[in-house]
Parts: sequence; structure tokens; C-alpha cells
Amino acid sequence: MLKRFVKLRGTGAWLRIIFGFVIANNLFHITNFSEPDIFNYSTLLLSEKKDALYVGAREAIFELSKKNVQWTVAQHPMMMCTLKGKSKERDCLNYIRVLQVVDDERLYVCGTHAFQPQCDYLNLADFSLDGRPEDGRGKCSFDPSQSFTTVMVDGELYSGTAYNFLGSEPIISRYSPSQSLLRTEYSTSWLNEPSFVFADVIREGTNRVDGDDDKIYYFFTEVSVEYEFFGKLLIPRVARVCKGDLGGQRTLQKKWTSFLKAKLVCSMPELNFVFNVVHDVFILKGADWRDTVIYGVFTSQWGNVGLSAVCAYNMTAVEEVFSKGKYMQKATVEQSHTKWVRYNGITPSPRPGACINNLMRQQNISSSLHLPDKTLQFVKDHPLLEDPVLPIGNGPRLITKDVNYTQIVVERVRALDQNIYDVIFTGTDKGVLHKSVVFEGEVHIVEEIQLLKNSESIKNLLLSSETRSLYAGSDSGVVQSPTAFCGRYLSCDDCVLARDPYCAWDLHTAACVNIFDAPSKPNGLIQSLNGDADKCPSGKGSTCSRTT
Ligand SMILES: *[C@@H]1O[C@H](CO)[C@@H](O)[C@H](O)[C@H]1NC(C)=O
Ligand SMILES: *[C@@H]1O[C@H](CO)[C@@H](O)[C@H](O)[C@H]1NC(C)=O
Ligand SMILES: *[C@@H]1O[C@H](CO)[C@@H](O)[C@H](O)[C@H]1NC(C)=O
Ligand SMILES: *[C@@H]1O[C@H](CO)[C@@H](O)[C@H](O)[C@H]1NC(C)=O
Repeated sequence: MLKRFVKLRGTGAWLRIIFGFVIANNLFHITNFSEPDIFNYSTLLLSEKKDALYVGAREAIFELSKKNVQWTVAQHPMMMCTLKGKSKERDCLNYIRVLQVVDDERLYVCGTHAFQPQCDYLNLADFSLDGRPEDGRGKCSFDPSQSFTTVMVDGELYSGTAYNFLGSEPIISRYSPSQSLLRTEYSTSWLNEPSFVFADVIREGTNRVDGDDDKIYYFFTEVSVEYEFFGKLLIPRVARVCKGDLGGQRTLQKKWTSFLKAKLVCSMPELNFVFNVVHDVFILKGADWRDTVIYGVFTSQWGNVGLSAVCAYNMTAVEEVFSKGKYMQKATVEQSHTKWVRYNGITPSPRPGACINNLMRQQNISSSLHLPDKTLQFVKDHPLLEDPVLPIGNGPRLITKDVNYTQIVVERVRALDQNIYDVIFTGTDKGVLHKSVVFEGEVHIVEEIQLLKNSESIKNLLLSSETRSLYAGSDSGVVQSPTAFCGRYLSCDDCVLARDPYCAWDLHTAACVNIFDAPSKPNGLIQSLNGDADKCPSGKGSTCSRTT
């Protein structure tokens, strides 16, 4: 069973594992990694610096391609968990959900640990846990099947999770070794049954003349408070907090003073169709925060229509909503129906929910602890903004029928025409990967591959530009795949008509090659992203029609 992995062209693959069951698919260079009796490979961390992929699974952490460590649940917590009615085989185990880099020597890792979440440091030198577990409440979920997100920013862990055993108390928190936990208010107007999907930092602080702060953005779907609806209406959201937030002095003590949220719109207005469940988000960061584009995958709450969509958002538009948007407030309309309406009164100053900036510093407000109670009370009662975040082009970039997208990553590629193209990789709940290219404002699916053999859901998807690989985590294993399969196109026509920005026809070797592998001789390479195969040697390319 044990096979060595066939080395990929270029920088090679990390899944050259000697201890696991590695099955190399020679044709497509897809490698699988899984260990017997280990499941739920849902947490992935890439360290380009260490040249390693870390995988968090059920009761195990792996460093591919080197080592693994076990982290099981001891007798007592296991017993407590089963006494509370949870299953010993399923729930009362340790699902690793947090893997974050602390420094060159250590990772911070957390697991559900039989519904008593725990965190510990993993020493990379000998790949061992410190063995001094810390309370993981507010950092990691109790329930392995509950939605969850986390990001480490400058040594502080930001999480979106639940704070209690029942999973009924949602929380967006920041844990730092030197301060007490900063968190959201426990109130349905702040968070209402959220499903967290993603969080990341946008470094605005370094680039702004107004002295504004870096911000951490969270993406989730929650139950609407603002609309009257028969049953639960789901709403996709973007929320953000400021990195420098320290909480309030009296009001909002140890709570965010900068928590604001807005609706993410992904809809087809002309058809009155709304994609209202966000499943994953990828932030394509530019050199400047203004060049950043946020990509999200959505489906509709009414799943029977079988449509998935990709919407893209301009970071400038997001920032605009948070810095200038109108607030909403709870209004009690007749018969105790509560919904939310636009707040039309006078807004206190400084602007509620704003980060500390130079203007505030001039007013001697150098930290959130100095914010006036009026501002704090206001943001406590009005965390929701009325203005929604609209997608680029006012509609989805891509709509696909009969799939449920679960994951998304995006890479910006410079093609031979010297233009930059956003290449979108979306994973489905059936283990399929779609590759799409944004070309002249429209998106074309250029490739579809069955990444996971047993049609399971892709639970996590990462992209490494360095090794030009994708890594997909699922319940039964991890898969590594190249970002392009140019070699499968055997003729110049097929190669060019694929309209894949990674691929070009090499006249010298008469093969379809990856332009990033090819020696720098663009003269001998043929690529045409509008699918014009006329430049192919025989010249008959254009008559061969093929739709993408
Ligand atoms: C873990 O994997 C098992 C086996 O594939 C699956 O049945 C289960 O739903 C997974 N659990 C979670 C919490 O993802
Ligand atoms: C985002 O919007 C700003 C302002 O409207 C514009 O200058 C910028 O080009 C846009 N960026 C993208 C990636 O669309
Ligand atoms: C800020 O504090 C300084 C020193 O305490 C004081 O002189 C100044 O008047 C204060 N400015 C404002 C706007 O309150
Ligand atoms: C998508 O997911 C929904 C809800 O889980 C399911 O009912 C539906 O069959 C799925 N559709 C496809 C095409 O997989």
C-alpha cells in the first residue's frame, strides 16, 4: 500500500510522506494523505517559511511531510462529556480546530476536547505539545460540528465561536496572553445564531494618513433581526472590529467598542433572486488595502433551487459602509413585532464603532477606554448598519447550477498577454473542484476535476502560490493538487481553447506547458485567453468549436 510520491515538476510536493498511505495519481499528479482510523482533516495551516503543511484532524496533528502528534482526551473529561449525553465515539473526542503560528518555534493549537475546549503550544522542533493545556473557551468551539472561525494577528487569537456547552451563546472574541478576553455583548442584536465562515485582518493602519487602525473582518450567516419574516430568514454578514480596541471604561467593559456589522448582498436583482447563505470567503489582498477584493461563495437558504454563486466585493466599498453607513435601530411596531428601521436621530461623536484615529487623538481620545459613554451606549444598541455591502458589478461574478460550493480560494495570475487575471477555485460538497477565470468582467469555468475520490464535501481549501498547489481537507483525508493540468491538453488547439492562464502551447516541444514552469522564452509559447486558436501551427484551430 505504501507508495512514494512521484515528484512534481517545479518545487515539488509536500505530500512525500513516508509514514502515511500515499496514493499518487500519476496521470493528474493528485496525492492523497490519510492515516488509518483518523478522520476529519478539517483544519489546515500552510507555513511557507517552514515549507510545511500542518493538518488538524480528530485527535491528531500532522506536519506533512514529517511528523505527527497525538492529542487524545483523558478518562475524566471523556466521562463528563458522556454523562452530559454526548456520544463517546463521535462527540467526546478531540477535534483540532485551531492551528495558528505563534512564532518560528511554536504553533498555538486548540481542540474541542470532549466539549471542554483546550489549547496548548506545539513545539515545532520536536513536534510535541507543551502539555500545559489552557482553557479554550471563547477560542475554540465545544461542538465539533458547529461552525467556527479563527485568525491569529500579531500574537492575538481572534475567534468566532460559541462560549458555552449548548452552543447557544455566540461570541466574537480576542484572546491575548497579556490581556483579558475581549468579546461581543451577549445579545441577539449583536449576533443571532451565527454560522461563522471566515475571519482575517486587513492592514489599513500602515497606509493611512488619518491614523486609522488595522481591522479584523468576520464573515458569517445569521438569522435576521431586521426583517419581519415567517420563520427564520438568513442574512449573510460582514462584521469588523478594530485591532487596537481595548473595550470601554464603564460602558462596554471588556467588550468590543468597535463591533459593527452590515449585510453582504449577493443577488440577481433582475430575477429577484437572493443568495443569502455565505459558505466561505477568500480575501485577495493587494499591495494597498484599497486593491483588496473579497470573494465569497453563496447558496440560497431555499436549497432546492440548486444554484451556487460567487460574489466579489471591493474593499473600498466595504470600508465606506463601515465608516459612513447609517445605523439601524430596533423599533417596536404594533403587536410586539420587533423589526429594525433606519436610525434618523443625531449620532453621537466620535462616530460609534469607529477605530481610534488622529482626529480622536487630537481630542485626547487615544484609546477606546477614553471614548465617551454616549458613543459607547449608542454602538451597544446599534451594531447593525443599514447600508449593505454591494458586490462588484451589482451581481454575482459566477452562477453555477446543480452544485453546492463549500470553499473558495483565488489566485492572481499574470498571463502571457501581461494582463492580470483572477483565477477562482471553488470546491463543492461532492469533492469536485471548479477553476474559473475572470475575463473581461465575465467568469468562465475552465476546468472541473473530481478532487476527492469518494465524493465527500471539501471542508477546507488552501492555495500555495509557492508550490503552485491546492490542498483540500475532508473528513477522510487531505489531497494535494497542482493548480493547473496543462499536460492533459494534447494538441495546440485544445491547449489554447482551454483558456487557462496557466497553460500555453510550447512550439519547440509541441506540448501544453505551465507557463510558470517554462523557461522564459515567451516567443515560443502560444496562449490566447479569448480562445483564439488561429495562432496554432496548422491554423485550423478556430473551426474547432468548444464551449467553456
Ligand atoms: C468526522 O468524519 C466522520 C467520518 O467521515 C463523519 O461522519 C463526521 O460527520 C465528521 N464529523 C465532523 C464533526 O465533521
Ligand atoms: C474599488 O473602488 C474604488 C473606488 O470606487 C476604485 O478606485 C477601485 O478601482 C475599485 N477596485 C476594484 C478592484 O474594483
Ligand atoms: C488634551 O489634554 C491636554 C493636556 O491634558 C489639555 O491641555 C488639552 O486642553 C486637552 N485637549 C482637549 C481637546 O480636551
Ligand atoms: C445542495 O445541498 C442541499 C442541502 O444540503 C441538498 O438538498 C442538495 O441536494 C444539494 N445539491 C446538490 C446539487 O448537491
